[in-house]
Amino acid sequence: MKATAKAHTNIALIKYWGKRNESLILPTNSSLSLTLDGFHTTTMVEFREDLPVDHFTINDEVVSGESYSRVREFLDLIRQTAGKTDLYADVHSINNVPTAAGFASSASGFAALAAAATKAIGLPLSDQELSRITRQGSGSATRSIYGGFAEWQMGEHLDGSDSYAVPVAAQDHWDIRVAAVVLSDAVKNVSSREGMKRTVETSPFYDGWLRSAAGDLEQIKEGIMTRDFEKTGQIAEANCLKMHATTLGASPPFTYWTDRTVDVMQTVQAMRAKGIPAFFTIDAGPNVKVLYLPENEKTVEKTLRDIPGAEDVILSKSGQGVSFL
Ligand code: DP6
Repeated sequence: MKATAKAHTNIALIKYWGKRNESLILPTNSSLSLTLDGFHTTTMVEFREDLPVDHFTINDEVVSGESYSRVREFLDLIRQTAGKTDLYADVHSINNVPTAAGFASSASGFAALAAAATKAIGLPLSDQELSRITRQGSGSATRSIYGGFAEWQMGEHLDGSDSYAVPVAAQDHWDIRVAAVVLSDAVKNVSSREGMKRTVETSPFYDGWLRSAAGDLEQIKEGIMTRDFEKTGQIAEANCLKMHATTLGASPPFTYWTDRTVDVMQTVQAMRAKGIPAFFTIDAGPNVKVLYLPENEKTVEKTLRDIPGAEDVILSKSGQGVSFL
């Protein structure tokens, strides 16, 4: 009863920002992402009859506290679904997502865990079913089941049965690249989970976010299908700005940006003014991800590395979906 799976992280071009049901992790809007080849998690799960509790390590370090509880609760769900509640698991994850890069390792982490655990316990699932169960570990992980571009359809049912990700375009559809700019003063003090909850509950701007998210999604899908970089980038950047605008209206207000974040945003806009198509997007942290095309890689990388406070620039291509090792 042992399996190993590998999953890549993803960057949302249309953000998931807000839940309508917190325990089932059901979102208030559909989202869309690009899976990235540069960042991945490999997880081995073994269910054993002789274990009294679940055991979990990341990069060979024993995990406890909140992170352990999230994994244990997710394994409980898998045990219940499989009808094998008397088995505990030995879980070992190797994370190739540099924490400093500001990518949510929960996306690749829960996608790899879900794939390995369901296979190890003997639950045969389609990609869609795997994506749906992965959702209850972490929302953004639903999209990491697939390579290339994926859409997490919010669904309508109260039980979440129609809330899962579907593929939009395969890994080889379009060679679009992402540079992650790692900033020196990167501290994340409001988690994405807490930040979206506070925003939904208190921000008067949240209605505006909800009103525009579906339109952004339809538009960006057209941009992706026709490989229209200008259109895709414009929508992604604008959608990111709308998401971040909601946090300023929350009570208490907060922002994930630092002065360095704004420096990178302005550098990207200045590149565009000089005729180099590049667009930014930002998740629940200060680091900036920059979308660009392969022919501009050298210029984009050099320009970003020259920004004071840019500790590192990590380049990524479109990545693959979950695989078993
Ligand atoms: C800003 O997936 O980390 O990165 O479902 O509570 O685990 P939970 O949240 P999480 O939120 C990600 C938010 C985001 C946007 C996105 O990835 O779509």
